[in-house]
Amino acid sequence: MGILVMKYTLLLLALLTPLSIHAEVASDIAWTPELLKFVKNGNANNGKKLAETCASCHGDQGQGTPSLAPALAGQVASYTYKQLMDYASDQRSDAMMAVEAKKLSEQAAADLAVWFSTLPPPKASKSNAKLTRAAKMVADGDGKRILPPCFVCHGAKGQGEKMDIPALAGQQADYLAKTLLAYKNGERHNDIYSRMRLIAGQLSEAEIKELAEYYQAYQ
Ligand code: HEC
Ligand code: HEC
Repeated sequence: MGILVMKYTLLLLALLTPLSIHAEVASDIAWTPELLKFVKNGNANNGKKLAETCASCHGDQGQGTPSLAPALAGQVASYTYKQLMDYASDQRSDAMMAVEAKKLSEQAAADLAVWFSTLPPPKASKSNAKLTRAAKMVADGDGKRILPPCFVCHGAKGQGEKMDIPALAGQQADYLAKTLLAYKNGERHNDIYSRMRLIAGQLSEAEIKELAEYYQAYQ
């Protein structure tokens, strides 16, 4: 699987190169072994205390609140940490999260990220929609549009992968669709190497909606 990810990442980078000359820096985060270690060593007990301030929106177990805030439980810790840093530096914009993230030290962000990663991920909810097209995109991608299958990065179970690749399984479909649309129109631009903007930019709104439903129901 590692080789597949490399292959597609290189392909995407090749596509991106002509654009990158003028591209802005997506994030202040650069993944070094030291930074990964720093996040990994975050203090979950301290994170648990700090997380009381997040509960009103994200739920007391990080399970999320439908149509208000996404689930954080079970998320890859280094992904969560990066998002908090990106909100704090305005590289990812959201009025509510900017206020929250700017209050956090790097240590607090690491502690929170580790705490949420220890909680059980959100449960998949059933969908009655016909999602064959989404299932195909997740498993096979689309060679015609040079779209890699989602699973090579997001994992065979939608569980996320090392560094900054988030878990998607069980996440609220409304949130997934909203954030995919934001990548598509460039409003969300904190993905390093434009990995998600290049993909979302080629998906139709109908495909985005189906993929969002598919991952919410993923098990
Ligand atoms: C007032 C409500 C509110 C509070 C309080 C709040 N959040 Fe959020 N959070 C949101 C909303 C809304 C979003 C989705 C924003 C977007 O679309 O970018 C979000 C998104 C996030 C994300 C990105 C999730 C992802 O999958 O990319 C993280 C991480 C996060 N919040 C962490 C926290 C932490 C940690 C705290 C407590 C220190 C907190 N939030 C407090 C409303 C809140
Ligand atoms: C080349 C690797 C790669 C592939 C392939 C890929 N993604 Fe991603 N995806 C990422 C990365 C990296 C991020 C996080 C970027 C950031 O920091 O914002 C991400 C973020 C996301 C998010 C935001 C999650 C959240 O909690 O905010 C969604 C939704 C998503 N991807 C859906 C998809 C779907 C659907 C596909 C297939 C059509 C796909 N991705 C294919 C690498 C990939």
